[in-house]
Amino acid sequence: MKTSPVPCRPQDLGKFEIVQRDGAARLGRLFTNHGILETPALLPVVNPNILTIEPRSLWEDFGFKALITNSYVIWKHEKLRDRAVNEGIHELLDFPGVVMTDSGTFQSYVYGDIDVSVEEIVKFQCDIGVDIGTMLDVFGRPDMTREEIEEAVQLTAERAKPSLKAADSRIMLNGPVQGGLHQDLRAQSAKMMAQSTSGHNGFSVHPIGGIVPLMESQRYRELIQAILSSSSNLPANRPMHIFGCGHPMLFPMCIAVGADLFDSAAYALFAKDGRLLSEEGTHRIESMKEWPTHSTHISGHTPEQVRSMSKPDRTRLLAMHNLEVTQRELARCREAVRSGSIWSLAERRSHSSPYLREAFLEIINGQSDPEQPSSIRMQSIIRSTDPVRPSSEPLSDDILSRPHIIHAKSLLLQRWRPPGSWHDGSTGPPSRVIVMKDGNPPWRTSQWPTVQRALAEDPRTVVLIDTQIGLVPFSLEDLSPWCRIEGSFGQKTEDAVAGHYAADLETMGLGAVPVLVMRPEDAEHEQNKSISDWMERCSLVDKLAVLCGVSPTIGCEITNGVRIRRSNTNRPVNVYRDEAHFLSPRLNDGGISLALEGARAIHNSMKLGEASDVVGERKIMNRDHPGIPRVTIHPDAVPYVGAGRNVMHGFILKADPWIIVGQPCLVVDSDDNLIAHGISNATSDEMELMLKGVAVKVRDGALPKDGANNAAIDS
Ligand code: GUN
Repeated sequence: MKTSPVPCRPQDLGKFEIVQRDGAARLGRLFTNHGILETPALLPVVNPNILTIEPRSLWEDFGFKALITNSYVIWKHEKLRDRAVNEGIHELLDFPGVVMTDSGTFQSYVYGDIDVSVEEIVKFQCDIGVDIGTMLDVFGRPDMTREEIEEAVQLTAERAKPSLKAADSRIMLNGPVQGGLHQDLRAQSAKMMAQSTSGHNGFSVHPIGGIVPLMESQRYRELIQAILSSSSNLPANRPMHIFGCGHPMLFPMCIAVGADLFDSAAYALFAKDGRLLSEEGTHRIESMKEWPTHSTHISGHTPEQVRSMSKPDRTRLLAMHNLEVTQRELARCREAVRSGSIWSLAERRSHSSPYLREAFLEIINGQSDPEQPSSIRMQSIIRSTDPVRPSSEPLSDDILSRPHIIHAKSLLLQRWRPPGSWHDGSTGPPSRVIVMKDGNPPWRTSQWPTVQRALAEDPRTVVLIDTQIGLVPFSLEDLSPWCRIEGSFGQKTEDAVAGHYAADLETMGLGAVPVLVMRPEDAEHEQNKSISDWMERCSLVDKLAVLCGVSPTIGCEITNGVRIRRSNTNRPVNVYRDEAHFLSPRLNDGGISLALEGARAIHNSMKLGEASDVVGERKIMNRDHPGIPRVTIHPDAVPYVGAGRNVMHGFILKADPWIIVGQPCLVVDSDDNLIAHGISNATSDEMELMLKGVAVKVRDGALPKDGANNAAIDS
């Protein structure tokens, strides 16, 4: 079937939209003249002189929406050059999708000097009508001295402006990041390339360059460090491409740290060498009796039959297998981003090779020098990860290293406070801590009788639940990830968690309070309403504190006198204040959905509140409880958002840096009037940079629904 892609709208050309994300991992859309390229995606390398698989087949049979070829190879061959100039690159290759070209840098790395100038090769890419070209960067090899790498970084940056000028916005351009193994030079290179402009034009995509030798020798730890340190200074609104990376085994980890695009000739090179790719490694077919991996291409053949094929037939078959496996793993990664499990997938794949495992352990443990760009980037990845998600959390040795769990724990430790008053009306510090062990979630069922009895016995008791990922207050018993761990409490995890006890108790302000460990007992369950009402109120205050940054003092004030409507199973469904819907506890993940009354109350309390600190020009409550984050929108968007439309990127003037993706935020105008409230879909950096897509999913507009506003929307 001959299909053609639809060109993007002219005003969208070169823009990048994030449609779904999990921390740094994202599903994006890159707008080009040959269709909207959905990312993460791999661009197969096509050598126009050796078409192992025809580009038309890549498009039609394998679903590749983009490929990469080398403009220097075409430029060098007179026949190819003439045809490319006369017919255009898409016609030459017979490929209707996005065509990216490289510039000859890699040839200069492999064969030495090349005979084309910086401007000439960009102009040639324009002349043959590529979608995304590449400037002639200087390849920084890992074995070069620091001085040589500095020179490569500097020279690449110096070539950026003339390259952008030569492109003259006729094509999108790749601005590669070099820097070898030096993290500071990677970060510096990224900054210079990101900031390079000619007129209004900057680069559209940033590939990470100079890493092929690392992959060839399985130096994955240094590969991931190069990616992290480079991306520490790359803008969120441009895709990051990993030059020469095409082994499916590497995709989950690269995507988890922010890779959007890949390109590789691995499918053809490995095939030529009689090797099959799989998600877990590479397999030589030489002495194979049965297939250790599968695809529609090899099924129906035995390894022996494939070995006996002619070399071109065998290479073609293995290449087709390799392409299928590549697409399958990318689909699996995209689905993992959608379901919030990309990090667990990277964790699982890390066991495929000792070198990959080393890389994974480096990412999660290698934060020994917090000043290193890779550590700084990792910290920002953690902060950009939604800590609360409905999915279950498989227990593993690495569970405490998952970014969303680290984020959730740090928010808890920073923002949770012991109750200021107790169920009997008394105030004062806690007299004891009870750590509840055993009993499966829901703990409100398995542990409540014992907890209630303990609270009746001594009201000034703080009850914490001992979970596989650490202690959590009983008031947050239904909050994910603590209540969602799948897997039994093995001894190893128990020991690891016990090590965190003392430090966690100290941070929670409970270091000096006597601790008693209890287990749920079978007991008559007699509901004590004043205790359960008090616990429910604690739950609201604590969730507002931990997830929305509302100080517990304000949380207590604004939840005073609320009324709770319950489900048939006695779960709180809606919370009302003065008969207005204030918020709803989210039953699927334990988070909260604010309603308009709740958003107004929090917004008012912040205006009146105890402002004690200043970040940028904004007053914040204090650093631990900075108040619910605000997004300030452009006056043009106010009537639409005030009537309940989503906040779109491009209409944001500023955003509080403590915004948490997936959690509630307020939308305000430049005078801090409440316009709407909703769930943030992006970090504050992204809100200030992105130009396409939804920034805040609005739950309620806050402007009066009068005729004037409706007229503004209709017009
Ligand atoms: N292909 C693989 N690595 C590189 C690189 O560093 N630069 C360019 N332009 N192409 C590459």
